[in-house]
Amino acid sequence: MSTNKTGLTTSWGAPVGDNQNSQTAGARGPVLLQDVHLLEKLAHFNRERVPERVVHAKGAGAHGYFEVTQDVSKYTKAAFLSEVGKKTDMFARFSTVAGENGSADTVRDPRGFALKFYTEEGNYDLVGNNTPIFFIQDAIKFPDFIHTQKRDPKTHLKNPNAVWDFWSLSPESLHQVTYLMGDRGIPATLRHMHGFGSHTFKWTNAEGVSHWVKYHFLTEQGIKNITQEVADKIAGENPDFHTEDLFNAIEEGDFPAWKMYVQIMPLEDANTYRFDPFDVTKTWSHKDYPLIEVGRMVLDRNPENYFAEVEQATFSPGTLVPGIDVSPDKMLQGRLFAYHDAHRYRVGANHQMLPINAAKNQVNNYQRDGQMNFGKNGGGSVYYEPNSFDGPTETAAAKPAPLEVTGVTDSVPYFKEDFYTQPGDLYRLQSAEEQERLVNTFVGGLSAVTYDHIKLRMIEHLYKADAEFGSRVAAGLNLPVPGLAETK
Ligand code: HEM
Repeated sequence: MSTNKTGLTTSWGAPVGDNQNSQTAGARGPVLLQDVHLLEKLAHFNRERVPERVVHAKGAGAHGYFEVTQDVSKYTKAAFLSEVGKKTDMFARFSTVAGENGSADTVRDPRGFALKFYTEEGNYDLVGNNTPIFFIQDAIKFPDFIHTQKRDPKTHLKNPNAVWDFWSLSPESLHQVTYLMGDRGIPATLRHMHGFGSHTFKWTNAEGVSHWVKYHFLTEQGIKNITQEVADKIAGENPDFHTEDLFNAIEEGDFPAWKMYVQIMPLEDANTYRFDPFDVTKTWSHKDYPLIEVGRMVLDRNPENYFAEVEQATFSPGTLVPGIDVSPDKMLQGRLFAYHDAHRYRVGANHQMLPINAAKNQVNNYQRDGQMNFGKNGGGSVYYEPNSFDGPTETAAAKPAPLEVTGVTDSVPYFKEDFYTQPGDLYRLQSAEEQERLVNTFVGGLSAVTYDHIKLRMIEHLYKADAEFGSRVAAGLNLPVPGLAETK
């Protein structure tokens, strides 16, 4: 805590005469309405909280930098990636998804992996998770999915029936659920986990040639996870374990770092790949699209003030720079609306002006006014476009590369749908010990479900992914595999 002693002032800058005793009518009389300093203190206190994030409410953040280590200019014209050795300031926030702001850090949940790069062409946000995939494929299902993860409206308790009912009725979630029930479902610390952009994005180079791209941030600390038993113990003893670990590591100069890689897919492959590469429930094979190194991110500075820098930070997958664009991934497309809308509601219409969110290059546009507009608001400059007074104008080269689309408008699933191959592979790839823990976690989770039809539906999906996997979970629950008379 800083100790430079100066006179206490009101929020209007006037010296405060007494900050310990309210003004009263006589030494023993009632408190006076004229004590404006008291009124302001109480009123401001009532407004100290902004609404917590509707998801990813509990989080920890840190400042750092990104350094380019390999030349990727043939894939993207993004200026911050333009040359080896180039460094860009950044801010990262890691979070759990379902819990409230005060919830325990060591729960089984994906971890948010949100990055803000303060580039010379404006801010670039990559709002990913510590898993390369997600539970659902289409934004239209997100509010329903999150309802099952949050508290039951009647009991105000977490409801395993809702969680597993939704998952068992949404087979596209099987890959992410299998990932989550595995060892990586509870990282030992925020430093010991990978990060992923998860979606497919589009990179375009200076010649206008585009590729589809997926991001991977591999931890230099190595992967470390903790078991359910250890996590439960820590949650009771220190619910802020991950927050504290990140803060202390950085404070002690042990700066966590991640290497950034990309998978690059030629545009035309998206039409012929063995599944739809825009589907966020699938990973692209590393054999087909190997990892290409791009750079390194290092977190080396803690926030000075949690509320100002972490709580008020606003990340959005729609905050992009020239050379990096979106894909037709239906989840990503929905997120392009959801985040900026959440920020206007949660932090305010001018959230981009707050120091943690402000671009470090100059912002020039014709947006004016709004609540909490604490900048110069354009001063006396021209406030409409087109104009004949030399106001800022567009940069044609910044337009996203065009993408050809064909077909009819309709509500349809992804093509060549396959919910089972990748979750089955994930099971088969694991060691015997990992499989044992995975099966036990499924059995533990499903044991909390009170309806057999939900458990049976889930067993059926697991069996379709891998017969042994499904049979083992069925046996653990003392239930049959639906359709197989003999299994127990
Ligand atoms: C936070 C919506 C899918 C990662 C949020 C927030 C909303 C939201 C409204 C709170 C934003 C705020 O108040 O600042 C959605 C919707 C989704 C979706 C509608 C699906 C259509 C995803 C996916 C990922 C993800 C697929 C990861 C790949 C995150 C992260 C945060 C977040 C990391 C926290 C950002 C921070 O640290 O401030 N999401 N989300 N979300 N979401 Fe999503």
